[in-house]
Amino acid sequence: MQNVNNYYLGDYMVLVLSREDLRRILTMKETIEAVEEAFKLFHEGRAKMPLRPAIRVEEHNGLILYMPAYIGGMEALAVKVVSVYSENPKKYGLPTILGTILLNDPKSGKLLSIMDGGLITAMRTGAVSGVASKYLAREDSEIAGIFGAGVQARTQLMAIYEVRPIKKAFVYDVYPEVAKKYAEEMSRQLGIDVIPVDEPIKAVKGCDIICTATTSKTPVFNGEWVEEGTHINGIGSHVPEARELDSTVIKRAKIVVDSYEACLKEAGDIIIPLKEGVISKDHIYADLGEVVSGSKPGRISNDEITLFKSVGLAIQDASTALRAYKMAVKSGLGKEITL
Ligand SMILES: NC(=O)c1ccc[n+]([C@@H]2O[C@H](COP(=O)([O-])OP(=O)(O)OC[C@H]3O[C@@H](n4cnc5c(N)ncnc54)[C@H](O)[C@@H]3O)[C@@H](O)[C@H]2O)c1
Repeated sequence: MQNVNNYYLGDYMVLVLSREDLRRILTMKETIEAVEEAFKLFHEGRAKMPLRPAIRVEEHNGLILYMPAYIGGMEALAVKVVSVYSENPKKYGLPTILGTILLNDPKSGKLLSIMDGGLITAMRTGAVSGVASKYLAREDSEIAGIFGAGVQARTQLMAIYEVRPIKKAFVYDVYPEVAKKYAEEMSRQLGIDVIPVDEPIKAVKGCDIICTATTSKTPVFNGEWVEEGTHINGIGSHVPEARELDSTVIKRAKIVVDSYEACLKEAGDIIIPLKEGVISKDHIYADLGEVVSGSKPGRISNDEITLFKSVGLAIQDASTALRAYKMAVKSGLGKEITL
């Protein structure tokens, strides 16, 4: 039997980028730029992004999502496979979120890169809250309230620090020791006061921007505590039966979603109040693409409560992965392999 000649199969090199490579090159500022551009192009109808299929692995309390996107105008084509296993940190010492991204060349379909998707998920999830806060939070926002002290909570604070003059943050986690560690690390990293608190109300009252980045399935604070002028980024929950935000705050706030379609299918924070009849669909003011492209204004007064709900979109991954790949090629990072 004859072997197939390489000429016909066309060998090519693929760049493997580890989490450490990505950590070295990817900054929050650049991730925010990439994600903002992706939302503009998405709004212009230049992105293709089928709704992500999800497989629930009930036997092991896990969820795995397959997230493809093509963004024309940016030439980003990628798919991320991401798993969400909330018991991982306690059970296996592994992160809740694990992911891998394949980045393709849109011209030929050729695989350009295989990269870690965990760090990119955290960076682009922070970045989308950064973009939302840039348009929706008060310019003078100085105090942050952070719910959850895990992986996403770190990039949430990094992102809002990038777009607003944040001087102090309060962090609440159901595990006080986790909040304490987060506070120490983030204070050191950003050079601001990060203070662990023992009650949810202390991460709400007096805060200008609140980020919820928990694995909770039920509301993490009482919506009546939220003061006028606050902006909230809700990023933790992304299945219809789970929510971090109660119906009170959803009703009180001007709501911007990452995607109408995705949030109406996946975001319990929106779906549950809809089912309760507390809000109707037209209570959703805009999607982020409409706001960044200027077709709808973001914040228009100092006293409105604004709320950005993100379930996470594949365009965020594709745009960030392409940016990381270009930077890695430029700085000679990563390892080339032939598949
Ligand atoms: N919207 C998106 O694009 C997006 C992207 C990535 C992750 N997520 C979701 O964000 C959530 C957090 O992910 P992670 O990687 O940071 O997980 P993680 O396990 O690292 O951190 C979650 C933290 O939330 C804490 N927590 C749970 N219930 C709480 C409560 N009621 N109040 C305060 N803290 C509470 C946990 O103790 C834990 O420290 C997950 O649900 C994940 O699926 C969303």
